[in-house]
Amino acid sequence: MSELEKIAAEVRACTRCILHRGRTQAVPGEGPGDAQIVFIGEAPGFHEDQQGRPFVGAAGRLLEDLLSSIGLSREQVYITNIIKCRPPANRDPLPEEVAACNPYLDRQLAALRPRLVVTLGRFSMARFFPQARISKIHGQPRRVGGLICYPLYHPAAALHQPSLRRVVEEDFRRIPDVLAKAEQVAEYEPPPQAEQLRLF
Ligand code: URA
Repeated sequence: MSELEKIAAEVRACTRCILHRGRTQAVPGEGPGDAQIVFIGEAPGFHEDQQGRPFVGAAGRLLEDLLSSIGLSREQVYITNIIKCRPPANRDPLPEEVAACNPYLDRQLAALRPRLVVTLGRFSMARFFPQARISKIHGQPRRVGGLICYPLYHPAAALHQPSLRRVVEEDFRRIPDVLAKAEQVAEYEPPPQAEQLRLF
């Protein structure tokens, strides 16, 4: 059994947080073990919970269209989420749920060693860029903790806010270029303390 399969088996049996009680199935993630790009969404929704697969609902269809716009299919990339079980009524993940699930994502990334991590939405962005605002940093690749991370808006945001659709499409179209120039990507510098404090 590969490390990714081992992690998936553990995720399917996981009881580390309360979300296991309401799930139909956990959604570990899927894709080839040698994928160059990993996409990280937020959490499974209704259809993902039913099927045990990530991004199979409306946001998934948009993700597939976006992938095909850059000549990729979902079978060529690894797709997973920050949390692997569906929150009730699709509410936002709680910090303790994210913390409980984090070790699985850490292990998936260690096993995959991708050239590029694309975060979809603010919850997965926050994993790599805490305190950052997606409106400020989307579409700007940065090196974080040995990975090159490219924060994008979530495809579901583009479905709900038509004005974001073009932004998501344009950021997505730059993925091949970001991948080609990965070696030149600068290290992330968190905003200065003063700016962080102003947020509160
Ligand atoms: N939205 C996500 O963030 N993840 C999924 O798997 C599906 C929808």
